[in-house]
Amino acid sequence: MLHEQQTPVTPLVINGPWTREARERAIAEEVKLAYIEYFRKAVKTRNWLPWDDLPLREMEQYGHMLSEDTVTLVESFLGVEDYVGDYVEDTINIVHGKRERRNIQLQWGAEESKHAEAWELVLLHSGRRTKEQLETYRDQVAEHRWTMYENHPGFDTPLGVAAYAMVQERATYFNYEELRKRIRSEYGLPEQTTEEERKRGKQIGAAAAFKIVGVDEIAHHGMFLRVIDIYKRYLPYETLDMVFRVLNGFNMPALHILPNAEELKASLERTKLYTPLKHGRFVANPVLDAMGFNNKRALERAVQQAKLLPTGLGPEHVAIGRDGEFVISMQPDAEIEAA
Ligand SMILES: [Fe+2]
Ligand SMILES: [Fe+2]
Repeated sequence: MLHEQQTPVTPLVINGPWTREARERAIAEEVKLAYIEYFRKAVKTRNWLPWDDLPLREMEQYGHMLSEDTVTLVESFLGVEDYVGDYVEDTINIVHGKRERRNIQLQWGAEESKHAEAWELVLLHSGRRTKEQLETYRDQVAEHRWTMYENHPGFDTPLGVAAYAMVQERATYFNYEELRKRIRSEYGLPEQTTEEERKRGKQIGAAAAFKIVGVDEIAHHGMFLRVIDIYKRYLPYETLDMVFRVLNGFNMPALHILPNAEELKASLERTKLYTPLKHGRFVANPVLDAMGFNNKRALERAVQQAKLLPTGLGPEHVAIGRDGEFVISMQPDAEIEAA
């Protein structure tokens, strides 16, 4: 608690004139504070180890109950998570010179690196893949290199990678929650955690792994959401336009380059784990809501209005309403409230 009082985490009060450089500087300073808060919480509250903290023996006990589709889905997410090196390398190059963004990527990458290890342990200890099969699979994954430029040209900018990550982390969280529920049902467990699981503070077998990793993913979403919120206040048009484009062009990273892409496609069709409808309801809409918009139309309206904002306005002059309307005040001291 002492540490938390030492470093301010509330938005800075910086006054204009709002040149491009002043905006970039203000963003960097606020993102640094967001990084400190994120890093502190990650290290203190989400410091788990795949090899020590997952109920591996229970995975052995229940592993035979998992369906083929579930095994395919877990294996696919092992592949997606195993591109972590590419995601980190690519993003660190994109944000080059922005130390606070680089540091976020380093800590984020350290956390993500545990996820592939967790899925490997799930597959191995469930008795559904051998050590050799997993080695081969991961070697095949490594034959490809993932870059944002190749997969999402236009999102390969410091702002773009943050907007993409904000949506992607939410989508990953949703997928892992869905898989966790699926595993519980295949294990013959109720959807809600049992009294026994609550008492020991951990779910059963592979469900525990999906719960723990899911908590990481939603924390990642929250961190990138905050970064985007900071960008939005200083660079409203660019940020809203980028978020709009990311929401329109979103798909999960690396799915088509996975060694088992065909099996994954079939499993996704059979299980309906992640459909466009679910994406809208459980990924895009919560993202829009968290950004302060009622719906996509509101974001679209905000993009149009942001384009027309007079230059020189800073965050102290502008507020955005839930329907995407801008409220402008030219008195910097006045309290600005959305109509
Ligand atoms: Fe992950
Ligand atoms: Fe993540």
